[in-house]
Amino acid sequence: MIRPNKDLIEKLLKSYQSNFDVSGSLQLIFSPGRINLLGEHVDYNDGIMLPAAIDLGIYFLSGNHSNSEISIHAVDLNETIHINPTETIRKLKHNHWSNYLLGVLSQFQKRGISLPSFQLAFSGDVPLGAGLSSSAALESGMAFLLNELTQANLTKKELALIGQRAEHDFVGVKCGIMDQTASILGKENHLIELHAKDLSLQYLPLELEDHLLVLVDSKVEHALASSEYNTRRAECDRALNAIEAITGKDSYSQIDKESLERLKTKMQPTEYQRALYVINEIDRVKSAIHLIKKKQLKQLGQLMNETHVGLSNQYEVSCDELDYLQLTAMEQEYVLGSRMMGGGFGGCTINLIQKGYVDQFIDTLSRAYTEKFHIKADFIPVHISNGTAFIPNHIYL
Ligand code: GLA
Repeated sequence: MIRPNKDLIEKLLKSYQSNFDVSGSLQLIFSPGRINLLGEHVDYNDGIMLPAAIDLGIYFLSGNHSNSEISIHAVDLNETIHINPTETIRKLKHNHWSNYLLGVLSQFQKRGISLPSFQLAFSGDVPLGAGLSSSAALESGMAFLLNELTQANLTKKELALIGQRAEHDFVGVKCGIMDQTASILGKENHLIELHAKDLSLQYLPLELEDHLLVLVDSKVEHALASSEYNTRRAECDRALNAIEAITGKDSYSQIDKESLERLKTKMQPTEYQRALYVINEIDRVKSAIHLIKKKQLKQLGQLMNETHVGLSNQYEVSCDELDYLQLTAMEQEYVLGSRMMGGGFGGCTINLIQKGYVDQFIDTLSRAYTEKFHIKADFIPVHISNGTAFIPNHIYL
C-alpha cells in the first residue's frame, strides 16, 4: 500500500511546473527512508541485520527535457543544477546535496550506460540528519529512475550497490549496503533479514500485535557521523586483520565470543572492544530472528537494550542525548526495548512500546528531554512500507 504525502506531491508538482517546461508525460517515484530493528554497524562486517523501509522518504517527479541536458531541482532548497549528460560526471561542490545524485549518474556511466537528458524535481518528508537514511532514499530513487529511463534492466540489488558506491565515491562515507537495500527492496509490514556477506535476503513478517515502534528524533544532527563512521570501519578492519593473523579466519561471521576472548591480550584494547560489539551484535540478530518468529517481544526488547549498551560503551557511537532518551524510555514499564538507531552521534532512537501508551510515552519523554537538553524531540510512529516504486498517475493527477 502506498500512503502518498498528497501535500508534498502538490508542492512538488507546482515547483516542477514553475521551474521546467511541462510538455510531455511525467512520472512520480517514491523512495523511502529506513529503520533498522537490530543489527547496527554490522553491514560492513559480514553481519546480519533487520532493516525495513518506512513511509517517509523522497519524491522524484521527472519528465523529458526540451534541451539535451539533465536539470535537477531541489525543491526544499530552491536550487537547480544543470549537467551535460555526454560529459563525464564530476562533483560540483563538496558537501552538496547533488553528490548523492551525481554519484549515481556517474556509476551508470562507469557501467558504460549512456545517460539520457531529463528534468527532475525532488522533495522529501523524511527528516534529514535524523539517521533515517534520507541519503539512501536519494540514491535509490535516482538509481531506480535511471534504470527506467535507460532501460538498463539492472536488478534491485545492483541498484542498491550503485547507491552504495555513489556514497563511497561522491559523498566520502564508506557506508555498508543496509540503507540502500532497505530503501529499494523494502516490503510492507516486513523486516528484511539481510546477510551482508553474500547480500542474500529474506522477508520476515513483523507482527507486533498490541505493540508498535516509535522513533524519537533527538534533533541532534549526526555531524561527526561521516568521519567517525570511516574510523569505526577502519578499526573493525584492523581488528579483523589481527584476528586473521592468529586464527586464519577472515570474517566476523566465522568468529565466536570464546575465540575472541582468547585473543584479547594480543589485540589493541579499542580494536578488541569494536570486535566484541560486532560479534555480540551478530549473535543478537540471530536470536532476534527466532524471537520475532515466535512473537516473543519482551525478549526482543531486551536485545534492543543490549544493542544500545554495546553501541554506547563498546562501539562508542552514541551521545549524551541518545543515552538519555534510551534510559528514560527504559524507565517506563510499557516500553519493551529502546536503542539508538543508525550510524550514531545523533539521530533517532527506536522504541518498542505497548499500544495505548503512545501519548503517555510522548508526553513523558518530551518533557524530560526538553528539561534536560532544551531540545524539542520529534516522535514518529513507524509504518513499514514498500521500497522505491512508481506512484501511479491517478493518485496525484
Ligand atoms: C549508516 C550506514 C549503514 C550502516 C549504519 C549502521 O546508516 O549508511 O551502512 O552501517 O550506519 O548500522
